Amino acid sequence: MSERSNSNFVNDIASVIHPYSNLARHAEIGPVVMTRGEGVFVEDDQGRRYLEGMSGLWSASLGFSERRLIDAAMRQFEKLPYYQLFNHRSTEPSIELAQRLIDIAPQGLSKVLFANSGSEANDQAIKLVWYYNNALGRREKKKIISRWRGYHGVTIASASLTGLAANHADFDLPIQNILHTDAPSHFHHGLPGESVSEFTQRLIDNLEQLILKEGPETVAAFIAEPVCGSGGVIVPPEGYFTGVQKILKKYDILFIADEVICGFGRTGNMFGCETYDIKPDIMTVAKALSSSYLPISATIVSEDIHTAMIDQSRKHGVFAHGVTYAGHPVCAAVAVETLKIYEERDIVGHVQQVSKRFMKRLNALSERTNVGEARGVGLVGAIALVRDKKEKTSYDSQLGVGRTLQAKVMENGVIVRALRDDVVCFCPPLIINDAQTDMLFDSVESALDDLESSSGLS
Ligand SMILES: Cc1ncc(COP(=O)(O)O)c(C=O)c1O
Repeated sequence: MSERSNSNFVNDIASVIHPYSNLARHAEIGPVVMTRGEGVFVEDDQGRRYLEGMSGLWSASLGFSERRLIDAAMRQFEKLPYYQLFNHRSTEPSIELAQRLIDIAPQGLSKVLFANSGSEANDQAIKLVWYYNNALGRREKKKIISRWRGYHGVTIASASLTGLAANHADFDLPIQNILHTDAPSHFHHGLPGESVSEFTQRLIDNLEQLILKEGPETVAAFIAEPVCGSGGVIVPPEGYFTGVQKILKKYDILFIADEVICGFGRTGNMFGCETYDIKPDIMTVAKALSSSYLPISATIVSEDIHTAMIDQSRKHGVFAHGVTYAGHPVCAAVAVETLKIYEERDIVGHVQQVSKRFMKRLNALSERTNVGEARGVGLVGAIALVRDKKEKTSYDSQLGVGRTLQAKVMENGVIVRALRDDVVCFCPPLIINDAQTDMLFDSVESALDDLESSSGLS
């Protein structure tokens, strides 16, 4: 059956709006329709099988066929398929999940507010920062500093935090009180002749200058992913977060750690905060919280912030925030089972082990003529394609070299993701093994060979 006579193909074009897709182009190229999953592999409706080197959206940590998660959902569906947390009600899975999260979260985080997506978790983090400062009578202290290349979601506030131009353009964003500072990528943003440590110090100085220019009494919080994902897998240089935290402390500014990608083992520790010694006041999690089998997210806050929330609800008679599906019992049951699996199978230990192979194969790509930088940590990485390695000259963005590589790799049966600046990313399920890691990188090497020999990279 040809793709165009396939009803999925035709019906999709006729009816579905695709997030993060070129909608004009979609009408011509149509969708790849996935129908099955097994371990780290997915299969499409044409019977093609792919190693999912991006875990879907940096998220399906336990792969695509974890029986225990399916059984946990079924057990909860049969017992109580829905109930809410509003108005002093609760459910057993949401209580157990909150407790488990507090047990593993960085020290000082002690209460959990559930939601459905990473965007919502960040959105409510901002609301809580404002609520907190109002409770303390600091009505001016409301600005949030985010970073260029940071990704925090797509709701009006979280898209404003996101530091990517396409998320703002013609959506009339960012909203007021959201500021952006530098992305910590020496490769992309270092000045000619600037060392990594000089670059890092410049960024820390710039952050302090921004705070002073705005007035420290107006700056409430700083938000960062420990490792930026969608901004191109930006691994922070040594000393960056230590310097940033010193400045934030000096001006009494909260740290919101967006662990939506980094959380639950991705960087080789339970949280990216451990990998980079970040001591957050608020932490947001989603994605691998349930291995993405069902939508659930959480905003985890310090005792100080929670105390202020209690004061506010006393004053107003209610904590007037919450979504219908917050802590949904089936999603929470799946998340509890996910956390149990992480613990029982020592998923962090597994990542530390397999990341040796992952990082070795990733770093080897930096030897290639057109790879300007290979960067990563744990089981997340990326390469930046360049026309001229010595001069770090990038390709004309119209050429779409990263996308061409992505398509070639997919022809080889592996899914990777091309982002801006011809950065191609890798973020496989945490359960990947050495042989599958080799399969992933063999296919990238072979696609690079093809492109080089066909002058696709000249
Ligand atoms: C670091 C980070 N924060 C927040 C989000 C937004 O999450 P969601 O797409 O679930 O709203 C994402 C999504 O990719 C993310 O990578």
